[in-house]
Amino acid sequence: MAMAFGGQGPKSHKGHRPVLLRETIELLAAERGGWFVDCTVGLGGHSEAILQTSSDTQVLGIDRDEKALGLARRRLALYGSRFRAVHADFRELTRVLATAKVGQVRGVLADLGVSSLQLDSPERGFSFRHEALLDMRMDMSRGETAAELLGRLSEVEIANLIFAYGEEPRSRRIARAIVQQRERGHPVATTTDLAQAVERAVGKGNKRRIHPATRTFQALRIAVNGELENLDRFIVSAVDHLEQAGRLAVISFHSLEDRIVKRTLQKLAGRCQCPPRLPKCICGAAKKVEILTRRAIVPGRQEQAENPRSRSAKLRGANKI
Ligand SMILES: C[S@@+](CC[C@H](N)C(=O)[O-])C[C@H]1O[C@@H](n2cnc3c(N)ncnc32)[C@H](O)[C@@H]1O
Repeated sequence: MAMAFGGQGPKSHKGHRPVLLRETIELLAAERGGWFVDCTVGLGGHSEAILQTSSDTQVLGIDRDEKALGLARRRLALYGSRFRAVHADFRELTRVLATAKVGQVRGVLADLGVSSLQLDSPERGFSFRHEALLDMRMDMSRGETAAELLGRLSEVEIANLIFAYGEEPRSRRIARAIVQQRERGHPVATTTDLAQAVERAVGKGNKRRIHPATRTFQALRIAVNGELENLDRFIVSAVDHLEQAGRLAVISFHSLEDRIVKRTLQKLAGRCQCPPRLPKCICGAAKKVEILTRRAIVPGRQEQAENPRSRSAKLRGANKI
């Protein structure tokens, strides 16, 4: 039974607004019912909107952040057995589906990146706006913190990381400042330590522009959480788990991520990704999907004004053939 799904849907959950909500639900065609996997359930905004489209819809919600998962479970308890939550990395999708005894699914959603809960929880160490230990792990039960990573890597490795994941042209100067601080016996341990090291290296910047440490924080967060690792493989695996006419929707928040999403979807649509000089295709492109978004869908002016964090969002989707 189809249910009404109005406008932008549930606007906020303690300040959190799901990005591109209406567009994502339309792209997933969630009103058809069946199993949907929300690979990044976060606070459950998109999951709730999916569940509201039809009483025949079920959602398997995955998140690597146990705290977010707990909040989503509470929020979505009213949907009973139609919502199930699993603590895992979405790159473990095959195992998660097998354990949950869910076969081919009608839709898969990945709303990549960090949640507002993570950014706004001072103790998580994601933001230079709050003084905290430099942690940045989405899954606090495992892995190395950002401070540990900066304590272990060489100056060149730090510079390469900040350049590659933050697209920061002043990465060498910043890496030097971080390592100098370590050599003086005061390794960068907190968000303030890192923001100050960046400011020492590149200045305080122009107040009207982004904070000078923005790119460095982004780079570290991507590295700590391995955000780009196997993203392409995850997309291929998500498509493998879709039934025919199943839909995939991916929302990304920075160009590095979006590039991987775009290229992987093109390859899955059968478009060869090999360099033009190669005489023969070796990338293995085979037509498995039809791309539904020739250009990425981006938030309209109103959404950007109401939710500045949505500004960099890009939604891409595909239909399995
Ligand atoms: C942008 S938020 C999702 C917000 C969600 N769509 C909502 O409406 O509340 C991204 C979430 O994905 C989770 N996440 C990021 N990478 C993940 C991964 N590889 N595996 C599982 N969860 C991941 C983060 O912990 C975060 O909670």
